[in-house]
Amino acid sequence: MELVAVILAAGKGERMISKMPKVLHPVAGKPMLYYPLEVSRKVGALRRIVVVGHGREEVSSLFEGVQFVVQEEQLGTAHALLAAEEAIKGWEGGILVLCGDTPLVTEECLRGLIETHIRESANITVVTIEREDPTGYGRVVKDGRGRLLRIVEEVEAGPEERGIKEVNGGIYLFSSLPLFDLLRAIPPSERKGEHYLTDIVALAREKGYRVVSYMHGNAMDVAGVNTRKDLAIANRIMRERILDGLMAAGVTVMDPSNTYIDYGVKVGMDSILYPNIHIEGDSTVGEGCVIEEGSKIIDSIIGDGCRIRSHSLVESSSIGKGVVIGPFARLRPGSILEEGVKIGNFVEVKNSTIKKGTKANHLSYIGDATIGEGVNIGAGTITCNYDGFKKHRTVVEDGAFIGSDTQLIAPVRVGRGAYIGSGTTVTKDVPPGALALSRVEQKNIEGWVERRKERAKSDSRS
Ligand code: UD1
Ligand code: CA
Repeated sequence: MELVAVILAAGKGERMISKMPKVLHPVAGKPMLYYPLEVSRKVGALRRIVVVGHGREEVSSLFEGVQFVVQEEQLGTAHALLAAEEAIKGWEGGILVLCGDTPLVTEECLRGLIETHIRESANITVVTIEREDPTGYGRVVKDGRGRLLRIVEEVEAGPEERGIKEVNGGIYLFSSLPLFDLLRAIPPSERKGEHYLTDIVALAREKGYRVVSYMHGNAMDVAGVNTRKDLAIANRIMRERILDGLMAAGVTVMDPSNTYIDYGVKVGMDSILYPNIHIEGDSTVGEGCVIEEGSKIIDSIIGDGCRIRSHSLVESSSIGKGVVIGPFARLRPGSILEEGVKIGNFVEVKNSTIKKGTKANHLSYIGDATIGEGVNIGAGTITCNYDGFKKHRTVVEDGAFIGSDTQLIAPVRVGRGAYIGSGTTVTKDVPPGALALSRVEQKNIEGWVERRKERAKSDSRS
């Protein structure tokens, strides 16, 4: 069956208590709405339409390959789906409807829905689930033979109906029926005055259409996010899924309850993830890496066999094979580290390329620099890249040796194999092979301490 998907995402999400539209709250690093869109694509929806309202500019700026339609006033889910009428007029295939606040929805769930719909030659199929605690969901009312009669929203339900544990998952498939005419015929609800999409079940049945339910086994797949608590639960479940996937692919996760990996992050086989690490955004970690506790990697590529030691922060950087970073190191955006580089404790790198095998092991700042191969950067070296107005570049050629406590006043270039004596302030280019020194020559004053003591004694007597 050819499908279009409509995702309802116009609601404000009052219960979130937020200035941000609900569907943009992130789950494993992606806005919630990303997931129903992605899953619809995976089951072959040819077009995806999102009904937006609250924060529509913000929502629509974040997604590509999707059509947005506007529900001006949020008068309920039936009213929301009507907003898609123009967009899908004349469509003969199936219309898959999902809610933007069900980020845990799986391909398996949608396939079950589609299969049931086809097998039953249904006009409407509704995904239902069984929940020990049905609170917050529409209750599914069936007759003695298990046939779907209607769905009752919680606020409208009587005490008996509230006890029903089979609930509406908020995912539907419609075909071969005048969907929009039926939606228009749905009156406002008694208590809330909203036009409920769920009322289409009873209405379509009355008109003789075939309405069935598909009970999905995994209730978590359609858990809706209405509150911050629901959001935390959705994040936990998503995290578990991501980590299960990584472990199945040969990654060691020391403490899955305390490891935070965004959706879409790749980690290679035989890598080891210590507890309390975060790998976010568009990141890839190679094979055989070790990421130690407290480290955070954002939008970065880490090559095979790297070790990111405790409490390091790596952001928008690219790291070659066998690099060691930290503990307590910071790679800011634009850091490119080639194979075998070592960045030690309290070293900060920004917008710099550091070539093969170079070491900066202690307490340094390398910003706006190009550092060649096999360079040694002594402790306390600082590229002084900013003159208060502009940023300037520092270039250090292959094999140079930068002594401890050097300041490189950019723009400046240290030639191949040059040697910078400790404590030097480099203000001029250093030719290849030269020694640069800028410190004052040392003077030793023999016997000074003894004389100082004598003077102190005679001062106190007088
Ligand atoms: C809805 C269902 C409920 C189901 C539950 C599953 C209705 C009436 N109720 O309840 O039976 O058990 O989902 O999670 O459908 N929206 C709009 N425009 C509106 C109202 C809502 O676009 O005018 C969107 C929201 O942004 C949201 C989705 O529709 O993404 C569902 O709305 P929400 O208010 O969360 O409905 P629930 O009370 O959760
Ligand atoms: Ca909801």
